[in-house]
Amino acid sequence: MIEVQNLTKQYGAKKAVDNLSFTVNDGEILGFLGPNGAGKSTTMNMLTGYISSTEGKALINGIDILDDPIEAKKNIGYLPEIPPLYLDMTVKDYLNFIYDLKKCKLPRKAHLEDVCSLVMIKDVYNRIIRNLSKGYKQRVGLAQALIGNPPILILDEPTVGLDPKQIIEIRTLIKKLGKKHTVILSSHILPEIQAVCDRIIIINGGKIAADDTTENLTKNISTDHKLIARIDGPRDEILKTIKNMPGVVSVVADMEREAGIFDYEIEAKEGVDLRRELFKRVVARNWVILGLKTTEMTLEDIFLKITMGDDVVIKTKKNAEEKAAEADAKAEQYDEKAAAADAKTEEYDKLAEKAEAAEKKEGEE
Ligand SMILES: Nc1ncnc2c1ncn2[C@@H]1O[C@H](COP(=O)(O)OP(=O)(O)OP(=O)(O)O)[C@@H](O)[C@H]1O
Ligand SMILES: [Mg+2]
Repeated sequence: MIEVQNLTKQYGAKKAVDNLSFTVNDGEILGFLGPNGAGKSTTMNMLTGYISSTEGKALINGIDILDDPIEAKKNIGYLPEIPPLYLDMTVKDYLNFIYDLKKCKLPRKAHLEDVCSLVMIKDVYNRIIRNLSKGYKQRVGLAQALIGNPPILILDEPTVGLDPKQIIEIRTLIKKLGKKHTVILSSHILPEIQAVCDRIIIINGGKIAADDTTENLTKNISTDHKLIARIDGPRDEILKTIKNMPGVVSVVADMEREAGIFDYEIEAKEGVDLRRELFKRVVARNWVILGLKTTEMTLEDIFLKITMGDDVVIKTKKNAEEKAAEADAKAEQYDEKAAAADAKTEEYDKLAEKAEAAEKKEGEE
């Protein structure tokens, strides 16, 4: 388990990481997603004790990484952004060196063989690292992280520089590793995070912009339930037919995509899936559906919206809680103000009473 509390890293006047707090549970695969310079690597470097934090702390299985780095680091396998490879060594010598460095107790030959077959580098075992292709260097980097079978793996862009086939292989491997390990990985590749991770933290400008399960993030952030249907048939009749379907909020004919054929943007009530009914009605009228897609936001849209500073409403659980707390605080403030106003009114009333009494007295005199 990893617990991060108010982690901050300051470089001069700039906060590279600004007050991050989150927890990663055992067996969870967490993805760090964020644009260049967001603070992903800096956070990972602090979690693994590569650099110290300016404020806050990171606990690795209950051990503070700064208080007892040696003990804490025993729990972590780290693949930094630039793999720490000794280029003049052979893969074999390098991995043996790492094995010694980590004071690994597992049976040497069998363990190194296991690791090498996991990351598929058996065929380059006796080659000098310098001469390996970038993808293979990356795999050797991954191998060094796996030596000693640490319960926590922190992988900074593990698939960078790999070809599409290797990317899929490494993703599958990470998914497999995630069954027995706690994994944090960073990536720019959104489908990768979506495919591999249980949970996503989006970091932007050193701060957490979103933190939720992959499913929730994609589901909750999708703003509406819109369909785009390309239908071959008479435009006005199509519009009328769709408008009359139960659950339809609105429908508009978009551009003419092919000669006489339009895309229809259909908005349904929340939770209503129109696709089947639409299909039936179109077929019944002898029209043809040439394309049908939902416009649910992809992770990519979400990512861009958040990182471009677009005013997207993120209905994640956490944000909802924060919003509720904010509303509570506001309500409290109002209550206080109302009480103060009441007190003032009372004061005025008393003054008015006094003035009235004085006037009365004057009148009597
Ligand atoms: N040693 C350093 N000295 C000064 N500033 C630094 C240092 N290391 C990182 N930074 C700054 O901190 C910010 C966060 O950098 P970081 O490398 O953590 O981003 P990142 O999210 O990993 O980006 P990328 O996707 O490009 O790897 C950047 O603005 C960077 O310039
Ligand atoms: Mg980085």
